[in-house]
Amino acid sequence: MTAEEWVPHDGGMRKLRARLPDCRGCELWEDAERAVAGEGPVRAEMMLVGETPGDHEDKEGQVFVGPAGHLLDKALVEAGIDRTKVYLTNAVKHFRFEREGKRRIHKTPTAGQITACHPWLTRELEIVKPSLVVVMGAVAAKALLGSKFRVTQDRGKRLELPGGQAGVATVHPSAVVRSQEFRRDFGLFVDDLRVAVELLD
Ligand code: URA
Ligand code: SF4
Repeated sequence: MTAEEWVPHDGGMRKLRARLPDCRGCELWEDAERAVAGEGPVRAEMMLVGETPGDHEDKEGQVFVGPAGHLLDKALVEAGIDRTKVYLTNAVKHFRFEREGKRRIHKTPTAGQITACHPWLTRELEIVKPSLVVVMGAVAAKALLGSKFRVTQDRGKRLELPGGQAGVATVHPSAVVRSQEFRRDFGLFVDDLRVAVELLD
């Protein structure tokens, strides 16, 4: 499984976005409503990478517009980051879920799906060339830092991505949404985002 043959290796973001809906690089396109492309300025200095679109993102076709997105918005404000100036995307572009009655319950993408979708993320990194990548949660970490990386151990520190970009890992905003210790975990998430800001200065 790989998205390789659907990802254009020339052209810019417009071409990349135009090709994304055709991708059949893994089976996730079959049940999802749509592929959700990244968004933000093509010349953004900071790129934030999440997991997969959720139920809201799949319906609306935009990244981070559901509960995790609202939390991310608040955390970005606290950290002094302007959402309109960063490029936001996901490691996997189609929503993975299980049906429970009428509800669609998010499921974590498999290692095979993360690998299959990786060429899209690689091309986004080539086009945007961010100076700094914020890796949010275990799925994005698996995609960008390898399967041995542990977010809980190495969050909030300067890292180097295999492509040479500086990075900072943190938890996924949906983990903060679900946290039993919300205030603490929200604060830690904001702290990690502040590290990202400092690394850019
Ligand atoms: N979670 C993600 O990782 N990405 C989104 O776009 C929404 C929720
Ligand atoms: Fe292609 Fe990624 Fe969607 Fe799989 S999840 S079909 S690889 S865009």
